[in-house]
Amino acid sequence: MHLIIFGPPGSGKGTVSEEVAKVYGIPHISTGDLLREHISKKTALGMKAKEYMDRGELVPDELVNEVLKDALSRSECKRGFILDGYPRTLTQAEELEKILSNLGLHIDCVLNLNVSDEEIVKRLSTRRVCKVCGAVYNLITNPPKVEGVCDRCGGTLILRDDDKPDIVKSRLQTYVKMSAPVLNYYVARNKVLDIDGSGDVVTVKARVLRILEEKGGCKAALG
Ligand code: AP5
Repeated sequence: MHLIIFGPPGSGKGTVSEEVAKVYGIPHISTGDLLREHISKKTALGMKAKEYMDRGELVPDELVNEVLKDALSRSECKRGFILDGYPRTLTQAEELEKILSNLGLHIDCVLNLNVSDEEIVKRLSTRRVCKVCGAVYNLITNPPKVEGVCDRCGGTLILRDDDKPDIVKSRLQTYVKMSAPVLNYYVARNKVLDIDGSGDVVTVKARVLRILEEKGGCKAALG
């Protein structure tokens, strides 16, 4: 299964991707996570990307495409993958098509998570991530057992720099301007399945798994 999880910042892409990856045994590739890994290792690419991410803007296509190609070349991707946060521009969508066609592959479907801006702002202001292992929590819906401490590794939990209210506003504007056209690109190719991303985590995960099961893991052509 070759899947894209699409949706605005904070719509639950990472949360849903983790679940689908577990159930279908395929890797979850988040370009946001990969870029943050570059930043924490202070690579040249990471330092360039940080300038854009700190402003809530998209990182230039050539940098993100490099990170993505590197991730897709890993052997575990041969079984399939879930892309989270990529593609985000039409140039990236076209680049992805080229990369996959060279591998004799194509995207099976795009799951589009719909969540209101109000809910997004609430989810992101209460999200906390582990500084060490990147595990994601939510102060309201998925709190850690001990305040400020990661259940998984004991690392410190922080608010992501780009989850501050002004930056969230800018990320939402960037999404509408740059990423919404990507959705139309896949709608025109009959690849999009709309998912109601509202409701609690258990409900949304169940909705996604049900639709994937109905579509035979999206193997069958949609429509
Ligand atoms: P990235 O890390 O991809 O951020 P994003 O797309 O803005 O998405 P988020 O990670 O913020 O949210 P999510 O949808 O995964 O939600 P989550 O599951 O965590 O990108 C960051 C930056 O990197 C970009 O701004 C850009 O600069 C750069 N970048 C990345 N990819 C790029 C690309 N392709 N091109 C150019 N630049 C790129 O959930 C959010 C919170 O809500 C969590 O606390 C979670 O526990 C909670 N939650 C989840 N689901 C529910 C639910 N159903 N009910 C209640 N709470 C929920």
